[in-house]
Amino acid sequence: MIISRTRKELEIALNKLSEIPGKLALIPTMGNLHQGHLSLLTIAKKKASKTISTIFVNPLQFGKNDDFEKYPRTHEDDIKKLNDEGCDLLFLPLNNKEVFSSIDNIKTIKSGTLGLELCGKIRPGHFDGVLTVVNRLFEIIKPDIAVFGAKDYQQEILIRQMAKSLYPNLELIKAPIIRADNGVALSSRNNYLSEPELEIATNLYKCLYKSSISYKENIDLKVIIDEAKKYLNSYNLSPDYFELRDENLNKINVNGYDGKKAFLGSVNINKTRLIDNIEF
Ligand code: PAF
Repeated sequence: MIISRTRKELEIALNKLSEIPGKLALIPTMGNLHQGHLSLLTIAKKKASKTISTIFVNPLQFGKNDDFEKYPRTHEDDIKKLNDEGCDLLFLPLNNKEVFSSIDNIKTIKSGTLGLELCGKIRPGHFDGVLTVVNRLFEIIKPDIAVFGAKDYQQEILIRQMAKSLYPNLELIKAPIIRADNGVALSSRNNYLSEPELEIATNLYKCLYKSSISYKENIDLKVIIDEAKKYLNSYNLSPDYFELRDENLNKINVNGYDGKKAFLGSVNINKTRLIDNIEF
């Protein structure tokens, strides 16, 4: 695997890759890689002849109370994992300038009203930060394909909407959520949890699953959501939100919606916030 630490090195590496025929797939990450990230690479490798991953802890998507400083940087481990999985190129920028050129002159991409809902309500500006960096990576790397995980349901929709207008030829792939044996969705944030907390976290998935079954059984949606919140609170998983949304993130308030949809949940275990969803 080639590792590029600067834009210049990246340009040279991308030129070299361009000699190989076929598509280039991008897997953007913030590092601290787990099986969920590696599954994105596996999907990318099936769809493209060349893969590039990025590891960049993007300061723009962290609010002042977020965990930017605390966010785990595990470069040595990450490089080994990507190399073992056969990634062709890693862009691991030395600093913010290697991504944004001038930090005072960044082309900000706004996430609009959808970016202010759900996770955006709790983390104002977060999705503008995500879209701004993802747009920048698309601009610099010019991939044919990009892969994002389904766990970040709202993020995936917002990126899809941005790409549709700015990069109409780019193929976006949504990769399924990877879960531990106990059902917990893999996430870098799980590292902040103790064993007993991880056990408690299983109740988020259980609750999402049970809610999806109840919806299919036509139990009143309001009752499902009230019960879900009660259930989560009973395990001290204080919920920020628990909602049913369609594939464009419109809120569903009624029973009988037969299009693609997902229950989305965000909960707090002590100071760690976990999100998960179930599509059906
Ligand atoms: O999902 C993530 O890890 C990040 O939000 C992303 C897409 C890499 C942008 O920094």
